[in-house]
Amino acid sequence: MSEHNIQSIRGMRDILPPESDLREQLMNKIHHKLHQFGYLPADLPLLEKTALFQRTIGSETDVVTKEMYTFLDRSEESVTLRPEATAGAVRAIIEQGRAQQVQRLYVEGAMFRYERPQKGRYRQFSQVSVESFGVKSAAQDVELIQLAYELFQELGLISLVRLELNTIGLPEERQLFQKDLVAYLQNHRQELDEDSQRRLETNPLRILDSKDPQVQACLDAAPALLDYLGSESQQHFEQVTTLLNALDIPWRLNPRLVRGLDYYCHTVFEWTTDALGAQSAVCAGGRYDGLVEQLGGAATPAAGFAFGVDRILLLLEQNAIWQARRPLIYMVIASFAEQAMAMQWAAKLRQQFPDDAIVLHNDYQSLKNQFKKADKSGADFVLVFGEQERENQQVNCKDLQSGAQHCFGFDELVAYLTAQKDKKCQ
Ligand code: HAM
Repeated sequence: MSEHNIQSIRGMRDILPPESDLREQLMNKIHHKLHQFGYLPADLPLLEKTALFQRTIGSETDVVTKEMYTFLDRSEESVTLRPEATAGAVRAIIEQGRAQQVQRLYVEGAMFRYERPQKGRYRQFSQVSVESFGVKSAAQDVELIQLAYELFQELGLISLVRLELNTIGLPEERQLFQKDLVAYLQNHRQELDEDSQRRLETNPLRILDSKDPQVQACLDAAPALLDYLGSESQQHFEQVTTLLNALDIPWRLNPRLVRGLDYYCHTVFEWTTDALGAQSAVCAGGRYDGLVEQLGGAATPAAGFAFGVDRILLLLEQNAIWQARRPLIYMVIASFAEQAMAMQWAAKLRQQFPDDAIVLHNDYQSLKNQFKKADKSGADFVLVFGEQERENQQVNCKDLQSGAQHCFGFDELVAYLTAQKDKKCQ
């Protein structure tokens, strides 16, 4: 490529067919699952005031300190491309006076984080963020987990992912724990890596999440958050695990799971995989009861999680579970004289087979060339529109798999295709 060509920005991907088709199939499945659970879509801005994220995600988190796309707009206001969708959803329901009415919604689309790009980690990536407002019960946390569980089952990915679960209790409980944790870690300062030493001052709970083996070993004897939970937090967590067990949803307690965003309380969870190297979380979330109030709304309990669409797609691609959709019919057209007939038949066939693609060649190359394109498209059948077909109002239909050929009028063609489709489905 010439150096004069303009290329995309690092960490921002183009997704073209066939990957884009798999992505659309995945989105269709996600939408269907959300519909089954009664979640409705919300469409929110990609750009928000910077203060929204500082106040919700937390000013000491990696996302806010290192990863946001923040800039001054033309009126010198500091704005940020959303790094996640929960903050915007909470802002929107408060601003629209809907915090008490909206119960289940989801936000899908691009999120932006200035991270070091690698497989499964991009600077523009896609989430479906699923949020529930107004319900405090453990059942609501489990419903969110169940939704993801059913989706992973239906995608054929359930054996590749596992559910990691923890409770981080209430802010007061965490504060007590944090005090003891910091005291403990200060005594072991020399065993901490540079990053953890810095976090000791800024965000000590995140040290629990460190991947450094020496830090992990040092944490073995550290105070445990679970020991600091009061009876309300304990009961909430017990109810979560009781319901998960009753639903036969396997889970694993990960007492070091603390999440990288500050707004959580009680239940936190991540669906992780070993199949994507370092980028192991494919979907994550938890309860965030204090956030609506913190942003100025009436106290409203809430819980949610986000699917990492790019990572789920990688899992699907790697495991060859899906194929791009192929047309049912490819129309080969001899000359302009047959074009109108082909388009009329295509319109009627799309009514008969509304879920299938009917593709027209639309350019009068040699029939050999057109058949090559038909083969390449992966279509099941080729319909040939030539002079004779136009005169007789019948077309030649070739089954590209078996090679069988027949000449049909329109109604016969529909009957034949219906029967063949039924056979292929069996
Ligand atoms: P999060 O854990 O920051 O949570 O992100 C959720 C998921 O988005 C991750 O598990 C991962 O699959 C995907 N993801 C995050 N960063 C990237 C990236 N740079 N490239 C590709 N995928 C990525 C949240 O964002 C919360 N707002 C989730 C939530 C919703 N909690 C309550 N409601």
